[in-house]
Amino acid sequence: MALSKINPTKLSSWKKLIQQFDKENNYHINDFFTGENNRLEKFSINWNNFYVDFSKNRLSNNSFKLLKSLCDETNLKNNIEKYFNGSVINETESRAVLHTALRSLENDEVNITLNKIIKISDEINSAKRLGYSGKKITDVVNIGIGGSHLGPDMVTKALSYYNKGIVPHFISNIDPDFTSKLIEKLNPETTIFIIVSKTFTTIETLENANKIRAWFIDNTSEDYIKDHFICISNNTEAPKKFGVSSENILSIPEWVGGRFSLWGSVGLIISIVIGSDNFKDFLRGANEMDIHFKSSPFEKNIPVVLALISIWYNNFFKYETEAILPYSQFLSKLPDYLQQASMESNGKSIDRNGRKVNYETGSILWGSTGTNAQHAFFQLMHQGTKIIPCDLIAFKESLYGDSAQHEILNSNFLAQSNALMMGKSNSGKNIHKNIDGNKPSNSIVINKLDPFNLGSLIAMYENKIFTIGSILNIYSYDQWGVELGKSIAKQILLGHDEGLDESSKKIRKQL
Ligand code: F6P
Repeated sequence: MALSKINPTKLSSWKKLIQQFDKENNYHINDFFTGENNRLEKFSINWNNFYVDFSKNRLSNNSFKLLKSLCDETNLKNNIEKYFNGSVINETESRAVLHTALRSLENDEVNITLNKIIKISDEINSAKRLGYSGKKITDVVNIGIGGSHLGPDMVTKALSYYNKGIVPHFISNIDPDFTSKLIEKLNPETTIFIIVSKTFTTIETLENANKIRAWFIDNTSEDYIKDHFICISNNTEAPKKFGVSSENILSIPEWVGGRFSLWGSVGLIISIVIGSDNFKDFLRGANEMDIHFKSSPFEKNIPVVLALISIWYNNFFKYETEAILPYSQFLSKLPDYLQQASMESNGKSIDRNGRKVNYETGSILWGSTGTNAQHAFFQLMHQGTKIIPCDLIAFKESLYGDSAQHEILNSNFLAQSNALMMGKSNSGKNIHKNIDGNKPSNSIVINKLDPFNLGSLIAMYENKIFTIGSILNIYSYDQWGVELGKSIAKQILLGHDEGLDESSKKIRKQL
C-alpha cells in the first residue's frame, strides 16, 4: 500500500491556517507567553535524554492545533505505519523505504550484515586482522560520495571522543589533487580502503577507487588487494572484478536509500573507528527515536512537531531557509549531512498524484557550529531583513569534564535564542543598535554527545524529513534531479557537446 495522495492545500486545516496566519503573523513571540496559558508546558517535550523547547516560535496555540489537524487530514498516522512496515512508499522507484529496519535489528538480512560489520571492526581493533606485512591497521579510507560519504564522515567526527585509535579518511570528490595529496601520507601496509557505492557506477567513486588501486599495486602487489580493500555495494559482480574478495563485500539492500544508509554496511567505518559496542549503541538510540515517533501523540512527538514548524514557516511565512546550529565543534558536519538528507529528499515539485505543486516543498538547509557561527552570519539573523528559523542544539555535559569552559559554550547557546526572540530596543538613542527580536528558534538540549544520543538525533531529523514529505504529498525517497547533470557530464567527457547551449560551449573551450 502506498502513501495517501492528498493535496494539503485543499484541506480545511490548511485553509484555516491561512486565516490564522493572517490574524497572527505580526504578533511577537513574547506575546504568546503572556497571552497563552502554560505555553512552556505545551510547547516543550521531555523525552529520554532530550529536552526540546519549541516555545520560541511565531506559532500560537491555535495555529499549532490546526497543524496537528493537518497531520490527521493527511493520514500521517497511517503513512507512518506504511513507512515502517515496508510498504512500497518510494513509488517512482518501486521500492520500500526501510532504513529504519537497520536499527530495529528484527530482520535476518540486517543481522547477518551487522554481524559482518562487528566481526570486521573487532578484528581490526584487536589486531587480529592485520595488513599484508603483519602490521596493525592504523588508517581507514572511505571512498564514496553523497550518502556513501556524508553520514560516515559526520558521525566519525561527531563521535571522535570515542575513537579506538584508527584514523578515518574520506575521499569523495573527483578532484584528483585531493586524492593525490591524501595518498602521499598513507602507508599501504597499514591502511584499509573501503569502497562504498550502492550502485558501483558512480564516476567519482570509481575513478578514485581505481586511482588508489593503481597506487596500492605500485607500492605493494596485486595479491594484497584482497587484504586491504573492502567493498560496500548492492552490485556484487563489479567489486569482484575490481579484485575484492567475496568475504570483503558487504551488501546494501535495495530498500536502503543512499542518504539514509549509515545505519548498515555503509556505517562500517563508523564501527571500526568507534568500536562495535558503540556502533550498537548508536543503532539503539536511533531505534528508540523511531519508537517515540511511531507511538507518541503528535503534539508531543519531536520529529512531527519540528516538521510542522518547518511547514508553517516555509509555506505560510514564506521563510525559505532553516539553519542547523549545533553548539559542539564535533558536530561541524551535521549541517552538510542534513543538507543531503533533507534537500535531496524534499526538493521536489511534483506531487504524489503526478501534478505540479502549488505550494512550497523542501526548505533550504544550512548552518554551522556555535559559537563560530555567531562570529560569522548571526548578524544577519539578528538584524537582517531575512528571517531564519533555526535549531540550536546543545549538550549538558562536556565530554572531557571541563565544565567551566562548557558553561561558557552553553551560555552562548542560551543567549542566542533569548536574543533572537527578545531583541533589544534602544529607545531612539541609536537606531543602528536596535534589534527587533521576534526571530524564531527551537532549542534542543541533549544530555551528552554519545553514540546513543547521536543515533536519536539523526533519526529525529530523518523522521522529520519523512513527516514533511508525507504531509506535502511528495515522494521523498527518489532523486531524479541529480541524474541529469551526471548524464550531461558523461556526454561532455565523450566529446559530445552538440547538446550544449552556446554559453557552455564557449566555457568548454576555456577548460
Ligand atoms: O547524488 C546522487 C546519489 O545517487 C546519492 O543519492 C547517493 O548517495 C550518491 O549519489 C552515491 O551513490 P552510490 O552510493 O551509488 O555511489
